[in-house]
Amino acid sequence: MAATTHYDTIEIEPVGGSIGAVIHGVDLGAPLSNRQAEEVHAAFLSNSVVFFRDQDLVDPERQKRAARLFGEPVAIPFVKSLDGHPEIIDIVKEPEDIGKYNFGGNWHTDTTFLETPALGSLLYALEVPPRGGDTLFADQYAAYETLSDGMKRMLDGMTALHTGARSYGSQSKFQGGKNQSVSMTIDANEDGDKLVEHPVVRTHPETGRKGLFVNPNYTLRFADMTEAESKPILDFLYTHAIRDEFICRFRWQKGSVAVWDNRCLMHRAVNDYEGHRRHVRRVTLQGDRPH
Ligand code: SIN
Repeated sequence: MAATTHYDTIEIEPVGGSIGAVIHGVDLGAPLSNRQAEEVHAAFLSNSVVFFRDQDLVDPERQKRAARLFGEPVAIPFVKSLDGHPEIIDIVKEPEDIGKYNFGGNWHTDTTFLETPALGSLLYALEVPPRGGDTLFADQYAAYETLSDGMKRMLDGMTALHTGARSYGSQSKFQGGKNQSVSMTIDANEDGDKLVEHPVVRTHPETGRKGLFVNPNYTLRFADMTEAESKPILDFLYTHAIRDEFICRFRWQKGSVAVWDNRCLMHRAVNDYEGHRRHVRRVTLQGDRPH
C-alpha cells in the first residue's frame, strides 16, 4: 500500500489503490531545488510509479536531465536507440503497424535478461492516440505480501533463470530483420540467448521491502527445476501478480511522463488503438544486481 507522506513542495494525487500517483507542482524541464528533488524521489519510492502532466521534455537532453532525478541513464541492447542518444529509445506504433508487434505489450519487468536489470525508466509521451494506449503497472510488493506463508517460505531463497531469447534471441521472430514495425528496429541475435540468474523474491535496495521478481517475458524457469516443473508454479505466480487490486492504469496525454520503479513492478502497454499513432520516448536507468 502506498505510504501517505506529507510533502512541502509537491502535491500528490494517488491513482491506484496500491501504487501510482500523479505529482503536481513540478517542472521536470527546469532544475529542481534540493528539497523538491528529495520529495519527488521519496514519492517515487513510496508510490512505485509516478506521473507528471504537461511537461516539455521534447529535447532529449532535457529528458535525460529529468531522468537523473531518479537514476543514471543507460543504453539497452537489441532496440535501436535515438541517433546520438544511446540511452533513449523511441517506442512508436504507426497507423500502418496493424497486427504487428506491440513493444512492451506483455507483462514484464524491463531487461531482467541482464545481470543488472534496469532500476526503472522515464517514459515521455510525444504523441498519443485519441483513445486507448494506456500503460498498466502491477505492484510486486503486494503480490509477494499476499502469498501464503507456505508459498513465501518456498520462494524465499529460490533463484530463476532469465533470458531475452523469446524477444531478442537467435530464434526470435525479429531475427534477420524480420517482422519489424515501421518505425522501430529490433536487432535480435545470439546475445539474446544468454541466461542470467536472479532471486525469485527481491529485496528492494532502497525501501528494504520484498517483492516478487519473475515475469512472463524473460523468466525461463527456476534455477534448480526443469521448465516443465517450473511452469505450473510460474503460471500461478503470473496470474496472482496481476490481480486487479495490485494494478494502476495510466491514461496518457501528450506531454505526460511516467517514471516506474522496475525493482518492484511489472508493466504492460495496452494494444487497443490500431490505426492510430502512439509515440513515447524512454530513458532507461542503470540498475544494480538483484538480491
Ligand atoms: C515499455 O515497456 O517500456 C513500454 C511501455 C509503454 O509503451 O507504455
